[in-house]
Amino acid sequence: MVVASCPKFVGLRRLDNGIKSGSEVLGAVSSSSSASSSRGIVSMGGSGKFFVGGNWKCNGNSESIKKLVDDLNSAKLEDDVDVVVAPPFVYIPQVVSTLTKRIDVAGQNSWTGKGGAFTGEISADMLADVGSKWVILGHSERRHILGESSDTIGKKSAYAATKDLGIIACVGEKLEERESGRTLDVVSDQLQAFADSLPDWSNVVIAYEPVWAIGTGKVATPEQAQEVHAAIRKWLSEKVSPEVASKTRIIYGGSVNGPNSSELAKREDIDGFLVGGASLKGPEFATIVNSVTSKKKVAA
Ligand code: PGA
Repeated sequence: MVVASCPKFVGLRRLDNGIKSGSEVLGAVSSSSSASSSRGIVSMGGSGKFFVGGNWKCNGNSESIKKLVDDLNSAKLEDDVDVVVAPPFVYIPQVVSTLTKRIDVAGQNSWTGKGGAFTGEISADMLADVGSKWVILGHSERRHILGESSDTIGKKSAYAATKDLGIIACVGEKLEERESGRTLDVVSDQLQAFADSLPDWSNVVIAYEPVWAIGTGKVATPEQAQEVHAAIRKWLSEKVSPEVASKTRIIYGGSVNGPNSSELAKREDIDGFLVGGASLKGPEFATIVNSVTSKKKVAA
């Protein structure tokens, strides 16, 4: 039960916390987002639930993954957070059968269609068949190491959506793109490719992951992340709809860890995290999940 004097984070976004809102930074996000109550709390159209994903990338073996699952099973996780982990494909069945149902499982990639003669690929059908609920698409390591284009990522997204997989849609600029002032152009183009392919945004979480922050230990400052998150919400409002802008979770990824997660979580448009390295340590990942409490304090 939500008690009026003690608002829960779920579905709430506070605007009067002294931090510049997206509209102050980059122009009005949407007219619907200005319907604040007397406490400055804005009710979001959707769940607005904090979302934390762990991207295990190409790490682990049966034994280390058993330990990680054991640690996650015994971790105390705040209730009002959607938690997802993405193991390497071959360990998904092991994780699905041993991990608490409190945490959902994601694939780290999926093919553009049903399958067939595509050596080395995994289809969304297969991910769903073995119990995955989500898939990460457009991760910068796939874009920049494996050479995936936005067009291919769009096709993968379109197909995964037909299998009812939630999509963690990744966008983010490279260092030289940021330094030449092209961050928002790059991110907008990547978002457009998702928008052109997805039937709707109801089961999509956007992960903003600046490439220069991934695996480098060089986390974006809360201000840098908030600025781009606000711009993404504005883009969604203008190009898709104010309702989708309000409902869609925009999570940050790039060197998030236990200590830095709580400051990032406080920012208005940061709705959670996609975590790489620190998601391989159960207790630290739990700390990041529980950074929702610092968000709740800001919203209280
Ligand atoms: P990192 O990776 O947390 O190790 O920087 C994040 C990601 O790639 O999702």
